[in-house]
Amino acid sequence: MSDIRILAIESSCDETAAAVVENGRHVRSNIISTQIPIHTLYGGVVPEIASRKHIERMDQVIEQALAEAECTLSDLDAIAVTYGPGLVGALLCGVAEAKAIAFAAGLPLVGVHHIEGHISANYIEYPDLEPPFICLVVSGGHTHLVRVSDYGSYEILGRTVDDAAGEAFDKVARAIGLGYPGGPKVEKKALEGDPDAIAFPKAHVTGSDYDFSFSGLKSAVLNYMNGCKMRGETYNEADIAASFQKAVVGALTDHAVMAIEEFGVKKLALAGGVASNGAFRESVRSACEERGVEFYCPSPILCTDNAAMIGAAAYYEFIAGRRSGWDLNAVPALKLGERA
Ligand code: KG4
Ligand code: ZN
Repeated sequence: MSDIRILAIESSCDETAAAVVENGRHVRSNIISTQIPIHTLYGGVVPEIASRKHIERMDQVIEQALAEAECTLSDLDAIAVTYGPGLVGALLCGVAEAKAIAFAAGLPLVGVHHIEGHISANYIEYPDLEPPFICLVVSGGHTHLVRVSDYGSYEILGRTVDDAAGEAFDKVARAIGLGYPGGPKVEKKALEGDPDAIAFPKAHVTGSDYDFSFSGLKSAVLNYMNGCKMRGETYNEADIAASFQKAVVGALTDHAVMAIEEFGVKKLALAGGVASNGAFRESVRSACEERGVEFYCPSPILCTDNAAMIGAAAYYEFIAGRRSGWDLNAVPALKLGERA
């Protein structure tokens, strides 16, 4: 079979990204234009600004991805695009662009689920990795524990019932004055602090062992800070960051271990922006090592939003014969496993 080359587009949040991926595993180019400096001014992502910036940058990002991959449209087999979940306006920019290019070039269109993309980043990092495995997807919008039984086949074991873990990082960062995006800033601050300084709670969701809850933890951090202020005491931001990070990492690791033990899986993968956190990677890696489980985690650049992961996911959709129609639309609350 000849090589299958896919141009993938990702614009679900605040990164405008395009990549050319061969056979789902080999990245020929991976261009990411981040909007973080713009949204930092407002303390978080402003959806209208995100859409406008995607429109401004999209063509250039795609041209660069094709140029770096030394490809023209005639060298491609398909155009892939994230169509959900995400910000509706931001998603629409990518979906409209992908449809226009695919239609003009006479190429098939493959709509991709953003979380499926995050999971598939592992296929790029580990060319020999094959399902079945369990994947803990932890990002700014999602915290999902997923059983990947085959390519494109997912069972959600647990998910957050309130805030995503990355969202909790972002909110706590804002509360302690670190700014946006919070994850990397909290991680850096935590290096100077004592993770055992403050005992923040690890939430348990009644009736569902695999679900997560992070809003209580975020409130516990805010209450701790308010309590200090009311008593006229100062608090140590580094200790808060380190103790908060320990609580999040502990909850995530506990769930992963529970799944390993219950399902007897031999492989565990991480995915999503929070998986670029060193303390989190190390905690799950050592839990896996103790139990003789293979541990997988993409490089940080493949953990945060990018289009190469969409190209990897699209390849398995493509070879399974799945195509999207010209009526493909953005689906902001698309569920994993649901297809347009
Ligand atoms: O996967 P991603 O780029 O976008 C979504 O699909 O949401 O994840 C972004 C999230 C943000 O909440 C960001 O604060 C968090 O990932 N994040 C981190 C780190 N780097 C990014 N959280 C903790 N530690 C990090 N080093
Ligand atoms: Zn993402």
